[in-house]
Amino acid sequence: MRIGVPKEIKSNENRVGIVPAGVHALVADGHRVMVETTAGLGSGISDQEFKDAGAEIVPTAKDLWAKAEMVMKVKEPLPAEYPLCRPDHTLFTYFHFAAARELTDAMLKAGSACFTYETVEVDGKLPLLVPMSEVAGRMAIQVGAAYLQKANGGRGVLLGGVPGVEPGNVVILGGGVVGTNAAKMAAGLGAHVTILDINLDRLRYLDDVMPKNVTTVHSNPVNIHSRVRYADLVVGAVLVEGARAPILVPRSYLKDMKEGSVIVDVAVDQGGCCETIKPTTHADPCYVVDGVVHYGVANMPGAVPRTSTYALTNATLPFARRLARLGPVEAIKKDAQLRSAVNAWKGKITHRGVAEAFGLPFTDALSLA
Ligand SMILES: NC(=O)c1ccc[n+]([C@@H]2O[C@H](COP(=O)([O-])OP(=O)(O)OC[C@H]3O[C@@H](n4cnc5c(N)ncnc54)[C@H](O)[C@@H]3O)[C@@H](O)[C@H]2O)c1
Repeated sequence: MRIGVPKEIKSNENRVGIVPAGVHALVADGHRVMVETTAGLGSGISDQEFKDAGAEIVPTAKDLWAKAEMVMKVKEPLPAEYPLCRPDHTLFTYFHFAAARELTDAMLKAGSACFTYETVEVDGKLPLLVPMSEVAGRMAIQVGAAYLQKANGGRGVLLGGVPGVEPGNVVILGGGVVGTNAAKMAAGLGAHVTILDINLDRLRYLDDVMPKNVTTVHSNPVNIHSRVRYADLVVGAVLVEGARAPILVPRSYLKDMKEGSVIVDVAVDQGGCCETIKPTTHADPCYVVDGVVHYGVANMPGAVPRTSTYALTNATLPFARRLARLGPVEAIKKDAQLRSAVNAWKGKITHRGVAEAFGLPFTDALSLA
């Protein structure tokens, strides 16, 4: 298989779809790997490192897309890339089709086999979403701690405290991947941490594995209201699959919160679990409502592209190797996990959720293979 990895062209996207170890593995599997020149620079990977791993460096995106049979990326193709997509291309990247009609139409027109990272399903879980949740959860504490500093608008609290001065209180709404990673970081700093979740089994697990400065509490309006009053930092980390995030912190709670406390609502990409959160950018991440600092960046991993690139590609590579070995037809026929990833092919929508989102017909990928 001829595999191409273009440079990402979305604004402020510094991640890249492969790392040198991935090139090495795919070349050892017998494939030819082409990387667009400077594609890795945003993640601190030079052309020479890719070359040393066995990649060919290709001068332009046009060249790369023309020569490749399979294209591995991070973000969905943008309009400048639509004309480069062909029916004989196998694309493997994040697409998030259900939120993007123009992209869906463009890929249907191109006819490419669109395998999406976000719908790869293994034992009912979505393993290619996990790495970015791990990054965002850990980052939530890092940015929360920074915005608690006075100069950044916060109340001037050091999360870990010091001997003789009590640590800060961190309240985490949702104990899934984001929440667990946030809790680990906050606990490591020495903060008092409370995780609220509606899933009792999840709370049992967290109670078992977390250190003593982490408390688990059942999530309901009474418990949430009483905990956010004392919080220095609130992390929003809930997810209800296929739905907008539930509002767990209505605006009325803010007046009871401490002046200069901070909300980092990681769930902002699903609408957020705080009523007053709105999406912000890395360039202008925060704003204040009723004395509470709000952080609502919807692509938090973008701030740490080097870590995010390695985390993402650790998870994608095993699937990419299988897809490259089998090709799209055999992958769809023989590999149920890869079949769950294919959202569009031969001009048809092959994922029920995407078809339902747009009221378009669904076609089973198996019937096209
Ligand atoms: N902003 C970003 O850059 C960024 C990056 C990664 C993930 N996210 C988002 O973070 C959110 C969490 O992702 P995740 O991977 O941790 O999901 P997850 O499915 O692993 O965890 C979600 C948790 O929320 C819990 N939950 C559901 N309803 C609840 C309620 N009413 N009260 C308390 N807990 C409740 C669930 O039981 C589950 O444990 C998602 O919206 C995801 O899209 C954002």
